[in-house]
Amino acid sequence: MNPSLSVYDNLGGATAIRRLVEAFYPKVQAHPLLGPLFPEDITPVMEKQYMFLTQFFGGPALYSEAHGHPMMRARHLPFPVTPERAEAWLGCMSEALEEIGIDLPLREAVLQRLSGPAFHFVNTTEE
Ligand code: HEM
Repeated sequence: MNPSLSVYDNLGGATAIRRLVEAFYPKVQAHPLLGPLFPEDITPVMEKQYMFLTQFFGGPALYSEAHGHPMMRARHLPFPVTPERAEAWLGCMSEALEEIGIDLPLREAVLQRLSGPAFHFVNTTEE
């Protein structure tokens, strides 16, 4: 991990974010707490996540260019995001990072960055 580069560049840029999203969503869909929240056709969600993570990790601002201000907590309000679901989401992300071959120090740094937003999006303690 090179601390003078963005997380985006450390991960390996556009190709790596694409692979990460492709590894992540099958895990989300298969997860008993997460899968039921997502539509059957996951492709549009994957595309938005590709754009969002690109910008979140310090790459080009693809998401904002296409969809305006992220307002991510607000965009999650229609869905019951519990603390258990935040843990599950981060767990799927951890597995996806490992699957695409990201080394432990970078994996931990990425998860650290995502855990703030994940718990911030929690909007209920109930199903
Ligand atoms: C905490 C647990 C989380 C749950 C349960 C969750 C669940 C969801 C659901 C159900 C959707 C809507 C899918 C649809 O379009 O029907 C969604 C959209 C999205 N989520 Fe999450 N999410 C979580 C955390 C996160 C985190 C941590 C991030 C990024 C930091 C994130 C980024 C996104 C993005 C970019 C979208 C697409 C937003 C849009 O419609 O433009 N999510 N999420």
